Amino acid sequence: MSFVRNAWYVGAWRDELGTKPFARRILDVPVVFFRRADGRPAALVDQCPHRLLPLSRGTVVGDTLQCGYHGMCFSAEGQCTRVPAQTHIPPDANVRAFPVIEHWGMVWIWMGDPRLTDPARLFQGLPWGKPGWTLNTGPYTHVKADYRLLVENLLDPVHVTYVHQSTLGTSAMADIPIETSQDGDTILVTRWTRNSPAAPILQRFGRWPGNVDRWQYYWWHAPSINVVDFGAHDVGSGDSEAARQAGVRMFSNHFLTPETATTTHYFWCQLRNFAPDDEAVSREITEQFVMAFDEDKEILEAVQQASAEPLVVRPVQLGIDAGAVRMHRTLDRLIAAESTASDESTLASHGQATAH
Ligand code: FES
Ligand SMILES: [Fe+2]
Repeated sequence: MSFVRNAWYVGAWRDELGTKPFARRILDVPVVFFRRADGRPAALVDQCPHRLLPLSRGTVVGDTLQCGYHGMCFSAEGQCTRVPAQTHIPPDANVRAFPVIEHWGMVWIWMGDPRLTDPARLFQGLPWGKPGWTLNTGPYTHVKADYRLLVENLLDPVHVTYVHQSTLGTSAMADIPIETSQDGDTILVTRWTRNSPAAPILQRFGRWPGNVDRWQYYWWHAPSINVVDFGAHDVGSGDSEAARQAGVRMFSNHFLTPETATTTHYFWCQLRNFAPDDEAVSREITEQFVMAFDEDKEILEAVQQASAEPLVVRPVQLGIDAGAVRMHRTLDRLIAAESTASDESTLASHGQATAH
């Protein structure tokens, strides 16, 4: 299977979780989210151990989730707290609970080994909530494509010219070489387009009289967070972090959560260092990115469909695929390491069991 399990994934936008149970399939596991009486989120396997009715069809009662068929209740830890018409609670009447945590307006979930859950591993690599930065958030988006196709797309500055001509791309960028590097489980693909027109989406905020230097830094943080740092400044301003920060700059942030092997929950937002706190600009940027990401969605769903068909061409790799190649290798390594670790822990517990 193609999933890294020991990682925090975004399960939902904070606002998606209200007073009712909320169902969402994650890493091909049915999950139900709910909020306890004090508002803290919880997540359980979405299946009642009695007659298997999805618990998401039940009701939140106090700190528990009550099944909609015969009223068994389960705590946020997955423990059964009530069985109808009997006082005895069978010891195995419980469901798996997943660690969840709110961070940056999203509810994050840990689908892997609960012993490895660590809030310190939550993604922190953005100036979220920092002075000088304004946020706009996109709507939850469902994409009928393998999350790795989305990651490939977000490590790929070249498609911008062809797919997003009206919002992000310019033809001046088409043949500029890209650079790829890797540091541990993070990949960076960069491109500078010098002395050329700014991206349409940024042009009016920079009010540049002529050409600009523009940058695209495409970051991937394994397993499935992509951040695109892009912007523009006066020609010859330099490549440093400080020079980019002095320009018109945006971080476009993508949190990709596999639903199944061929479908993805897509959560996205942008942070910008211009037009601070201007809600009309935030709305407008969201609209532009809805348009742009719908363009990606259409392409990626077509690619996903085509990949299910018998091959009629021999696939080729191009120089622009260097980031994607590294990403696949990194995921394969992480997934193999998780399966070795889980084999070892199974062996260790088996060893313990036989030692008794
Ligand atoms: S199916 Fe849930 S209590 Fe019976
Ligand atoms: Fe795109």
